[in-house]
Amino acid sequence: MRAATQTELHQSASSFRRIHFIVSFSFERTLMLEIAVEAAREAGALLKLHSGKAQSIERKEGQETNLVTEIDRRSEEMIIGRIRRKYPHHDFLAEESGGKERHSEYCWIIDPLDGTTNFTHGLPVFCVSIGLERNGEIVAGVVYDPNHDELFTAEKGKGATLNRKRIRVSSTSRLIDSLLVTGFPYTLRDDPEEIIRHFNNFLLEAQALRRLGSAALDLAYVAAGRFDGFWESSLNPWDMAAGVLLVQEAGGKFTDFEGNPSTVHKKAVLTSNGVIHDQMIEVLRKGRSGS
Ligand code: IPD
Ligand code: CA
Ligand code: CA
Repeated sequence: MRAATQTELHQSASSFRRIHFIVSFSFERTLMLEIAVEAAREAGALLKLHSGKAQSIERKEGQETNLVTEIDRRSEEMIIGRIRRKYPHHDFLAEESGGKERHSEYCWIIDPLDGTTNFTHGLPVFCVSIGLERNGEIVAGVVYDPNHDELFTAEKGKGATLNRKRIRVSSTSRLIDSLLVTGFPYTLRDDPEEIIRHFNNFLLEAQALRRLGSAALDLAYVAAGRFDGFWESSLNPWDMAAGVLLVQEAGGKFTDFEGNPSTVHKKAVLTSNGVIHDQMIEVLRKGRSGS
């Protein structure tokens, strides 16, 4: 057997370094996901304990229907506290405390209680949502529903799971056979016509429509194949960061209402199993044009 040349030795050392970098990077990301899981479970237990019980409720920015409770804030402090202990230099973008730039490549995008209206009424449809963005791309996400003890997780390139078992979007191919879900922004009253038109149109085109009141769960359920599609006209990054990755990693599609690639920093969201996506775009096109 001939001895390896200098160049061959150099090449194999650099590919070893590359593989080592990829393995340790991917291992670190899995660790980050596990920290998010711990934080979501801890916060979820707090939400479940206080749901429907008397607590101080405020209205946000003078909006009569946009509520925030002391539990939204406590949940957020709990999540950020736990993650920051482990990753003190990371950025955070969280619903109740906003964003703080530390110029890290990582940013945790957090909704400490998605479904606050349900929560205040004791309706057990709410969750915790934590997404991890790296250089502008969502790379990990957790949605935890404490009422059903359902833990949805996704890691970029590694698929999506529900309670650690792989999930996939549905294969429904006709809109008329589809179960769809939507949500209404708190600003609905400012300009309700188009939102109501979309709702009416889908009501006539789909098998059935639902409105759960938690965008993160809507998205997680699309990922799990329980819903075939979801649209909402005005969401924030914390409502969808984890959920859109879940959908994509479960084999589904995420775009704006016109079918263009989108990001969690844009408002309008359309997600589906991919198969009915064009049919949903067509219904949204009709609604935008006023019919
Ligand atoms: C809301 C819920 C709701 C959606 C709203 C969101 P919040 O979040 O996700 O389903 O329709 O647009 O703002 O206020 O309960 O965290
Ligand atoms: Ca939310
Ligand atoms: Ca919230």
